Amino acid sequence: MIDYCLLNFRVRGDHSGKLVALEKGEDFPFEIKRVYYIWATDRDIIRGKHAHRALEQVVICTSGSCDFILDNGRERETVHLDNPEQGLYIRNNIWREFTNFSDDCVVMVLASEHYDESDYIRDYETFLKEVATKDYC
Ligand code: TYD
Repeated sequence: MIDYCLLNFRVRGDHSGKLVALEKGEDFPFEIKRVYYIWATDRDIIRGKHAHRALEQVVICTSGSCDFILDNGRERETVHLDNPEQGLYIRNNIWREFTNFSDDCVVMVLASEHYDESDYIRDYETFLKEVATKDYC
């Protein structure tokens, strides 16, 4: 089983439209230290292709749709994101790739830490070796 989940956000909305507010606490798992967003990516491009040693992230497709491929070194799973009311919560040591971007896709990522290149594992073989040493079961 891959260690991820989809968070269902509380939507505050009325006749004027919808709004989601995210703060650490009941609705959100960590203190947000960094936000970035990705858009204008062609459908067939594969982004990501990395894992993080410690970073946790929540990924929200705020517009359009895309696919997230998650890999824990033993299994792979594809999660389709197309709903701004949900967030994909990905913890550390998960290889991720994202692709199949719709033209209107905007992906917003909320991260638990500041940007730190040394937290990235960008080579898949290195990732497999690192997760294998942490595979206690
Ligand atoms: P990268 O993580 O490789 O993007 P993706 O996985 O979406 O394809 O990042 C692309 C570039 O942006 C890379 O040079 C690092 C830089 N970057 C930052 O400077 N700060 C950030 O918070 C992020 C996520 C990336």
